[in-house]
Amino acid sequence: MAIAMFETKCSIVFGLLTVCFSDSFKVLGRHVRNIESNGISVLNGADFNQDTLPRFTEPIPNVTVTVGRDALLACVVDNLRGFKVAWVRVDTQTILSIHHNVITQNPRISLSYNDYRSWYLHIKNVQEVDRGWYMCQVNTDPMRSRKGYLQVVVPPSIIDRETSSDMVVLESTNVSLTCKATGYPEPYVMWRREDGEDIRYNGENVNVVDGEVLFITKVSRLHMGVYLCIASNGVPPSISKRVQLKVQFSPMLSIPNQLEGAYLGQDVTLECRTEAFPTSINYWTTERGDMIISGSDKYEVVATDSGYKKFMMLKIRRVNKNDYGSYKCVAKNSLGETDGVIKLEEIPAPTTVKMITNHATSSQIKKEVDYDLEYTLPSNGPPPIKEPPVKENSSSKLTFNLVVYVIAVCLSLLVSR
Ligand SMILES: *[C@@H]1O[C@H](CO)[C@@H](O)[C@H](O)[C@H]1NC(C)=O
Ligand SMILES: *[C@@H]1O[C@H](CO)[C@@H](O)[C@H](O)[C@H]1NC(C)=O
Ligand SMILES: *[C@@H]1O[C@H](CO)[C@@H](O)[C@H](O)[C@H]1NC(C)=O
Repeated sequence: MAIAMFETKCSIVFGLLTVCFSDSFKVLGRHVRNIESNGISVLNGADFNQDTLPRFTEPIPNVTVTVGRDALLACVVDNLRGFKVAWVRVDTQTILSIHHNVITQNPRISLSYNDYRSWYLHIKNVQEVDRGWYMCQVNTDPMRSRKGYLQVVVPPSIIDRETSSDMVVLESTNVSLTCKATGYPEPYVMWRREDGEDIRYNGENVNVVDGEVLFITKVSRLHMGVYLCIASNGVPPSISKRVQLKVQFSPMLSIPNQLEGAYLGQDVTLECRTEAFPTSINYWTTERGDMIISGSDKYEVVATDSGYKKFMMLKIRRVNKNDYGSYKCVAKNSLGETDGVIKLEEIPAPTTVKMITNHATSSQIKKEVDYDLEYTLPSNGPPPIKEPPVKENSSSKLTFNLVVYVIAVCLSLLVSR
């Protein structure tokens, strides 16, 4: 078949170019008969001279080349003598070269040769259309030929317009992220999270989702993040595209302690946790609904963010009677608003002091006198003496005892005056 075309095309070529098969590029005929001989080679006159006829020293190696690079196909023939070598493109049945001449009009194709033995077909800037079988023929009778395959591979690339871009969706809706890629061989496409975390997918936690489509039913805030669509086909480089998924939901709020106690003069901190996307505006109000502004002597408002979560703290310094009551933390975003109430109650001040008196007697017997001494502090009086740390050990106990001893001595001096 290829051979028949060879003949036809040749005759056309002859008309166009000055190049021609000189003597006998006779093909077909015997060649066909050989194929039909069921592999039994019949010695005849022609075969008698077998050793002196041109002979391929090796098969034409398959060549794999990345699109855009150059390819080289080699055909090595011994004993060529007066015969001629031609390169033929099998698939399109095109003659590329005959002997020293390039026949094809394709400017990317050229020819080189060595000692009438090695014949190289050069294809510059290889394209996908170049993929296929190439045949090296020698115009013996019957014609002799060898075929080699030129594989053209294409690194993967992502088709942007058919691939999802950043998305903002409402929580609980279905979301579908799509990724389309081309390349040769056909690329393998997968999805994963950029941060490497698992994806909740069809009731399971998976690290990678194979395929072009990442379909998430009832998306949750935990799905929020950056996703990578990765396409690979063994031809470097692999490629990926970042797609950011944002999941919107109205604010939610939780309060660790809804009831806080503080004694007069104490500093107290109220806490509130919220989740919202888009990011909420958060603030505290008093019972009367006045917004509490940070920076005063009285209040300090702190909020720390991590993603869609916020941790709010309200520090109230030196609690007085007016500070008892309810406080509200509020979170607001475009989808809604929520609040929670924390009640601040008065508790008795821990003014109990454990007095321990050391009597360093010669017999080293310690006599501990325990009694509770209730101070009712005047409003401008000295601060209450706090209890020693519960976790007593010998050294801290000793220090404490020493302090108590000194205070006791001072008090007794004052009283005696
Ligand atoms: C050359 O490539 C073709 C097509 O991929 C394949 O069928 C053939 O086995 C390969 N030959 C060699 C020697 O690798
Ligand atoms: C979301 O997907 C699930 C499962 O495919 C389907 O049953 C449900 O109807 C979908 N919901 C919407 C709102 O499309
Ligand atoms: C006792 O106090 C010393 C010094 O303050 C400290 O290094 C040690 O860890 C304490 N031991 C205990 C059991 O608390």
